[in-house]
Amino acid sequence: MTYTPAAERYDRMVYRRCANSGLKLPVVSFGLWHNFGEKTPHNIKRDMCRTAFDHGITHFDLANNYGPPAGSAEEAFGEILSNDFRGYRDELIISSKAGYDMWAGPYGEWGSRKYMIASCDQSLKRLGLRYVDIFYSHRFDPDTPLEETMGALDYIVRSGRALYIGISSYNSERTREAVAILKDLGTPCLIHQPSYNMLNRWIERDGLKDTLKDLGVGSIAFTPLAQGLLSNRYLFGIPDGSRATKDSSLDANVITNEMVAALQGLNTIAQSRGQTLAQMAISWVLRDSGITTALIGASNPAQIVDCAGAAQNLEFTTSELTEIDKFANDKDLNLWANSSEGV
Ligand SMILES: NC(=O)c1ccc[n+]([C@@H]2O[C@H](COP(=O)([O-])OP(=O)(O)OC[C@H]3O[C@@H](n4cnc5c(N)ncnc54)[C@H](OP(=O)(O)O)[C@@H]3O)[C@@H](O)[C@H]2O)c1
Repeated sequence: MTYTPAAERYDRMVYRRCANSGLKLPVVSFGLWHNFGEKTPHNIKRDMCRTAFDHGITHFDLANNYGPPAGSAEEAFGEILSNDFRGYRDELIISSKAGYDMWAGPYGEWGSRKYMIASCDQSLKRLGLRYVDIFYSHRFDPDTPLEETMGALDYIVRSGRALYIGISSYNSERTREAVAILKDLGTPCLIHQPSYNMLNRWIERDGLKDTLKDLGVGSIAFTPLAQGLLSNRYLFGIPDGSRATKDSSLDANVITNEMVAALQGLNTIAQSRGQTLAQMAISWVLRDSGITTALIGASNPAQIVDCAGAAQNLEFTTSELTEIDKFANDKDLNLWANSSEGV
């Protein structure tokens, strides 16, 4: 059946300007890292994307390597774009990235001009798009001059392959260098994509959060739910079918009795705010204007509806924040296995 988006979709979401740019993003964005590979039936992927859009989530985040196999998430989203979202391209912000291992040989990963531009072309083909809205350097490459990687991003915009540029997981120092190079080239850095949640506050420790404010660059916080830990998923241990049982990116060993007790404490605070734990975790990331949007993932449409509801309550009292810090602080857990944080 032909899909018609919910008429009230824009009343259900809050939009924030991405720092000093002209672009507004929904405070909740949807990422296709997990559950968009070949193993997940297409109707589940399609229903998640439809539900997201119905709730005003206009931003869909991809990368060349999302799947598995790598590339299959972009192919699945390309199909959704041409069937379900046909006619709505101008209401969508679609991003992709290059940086991680994508194809064999010396040109299939990191940050060379050769890899970045070829990978962008491959992504556009899989997505069936003429351009993406945002294209990222997925990780800092210590062996390629930053001028080369940023030059490739600048070219990607100038050649019409992307409208805006972003960087992901670059630390504060590298971010300053990258932003300065891009400014000189005349293609400003729109956005930074770091991991950030109540259990992983490296962007505060590193100074990145303040750096982005200082530089006028927006930010999209990935894994705001710590891959599902900060939700009702693990309140009583590890349930069947959860990410901790399926995927090596979330190590089940971090879900100790102590962690479960902390999650229960956080859940009580969330309830007193009239939120689910997932909603409170998203609101916490967005508690000041330093973060433009929280980039969630999901395994079913109901989770997306729940997460989108976070937009209704983004304010915290000082005592709520103090209470949260008693249960959740920067635990320095390896919750995002491939993080290039701090490089
Ligand atoms: N730039 C980078 O290097 C990088 C790295 C990682 C991720 N990302 C981006 O960030 C996106 C989000 O990452 P993520 O999926 O790890 O984010 P997340 O939102 O922290 O975790 C998503 C998981 O949480 C659970 N969940 C979501 N909503 C829920 C709810 N309302 N109630 C209960 N459980 C809920 C689901 O787990 P179950 O599957 O157990 O149901 C879901 O798969 C990715 O898709 C990608 O776009 C970027």
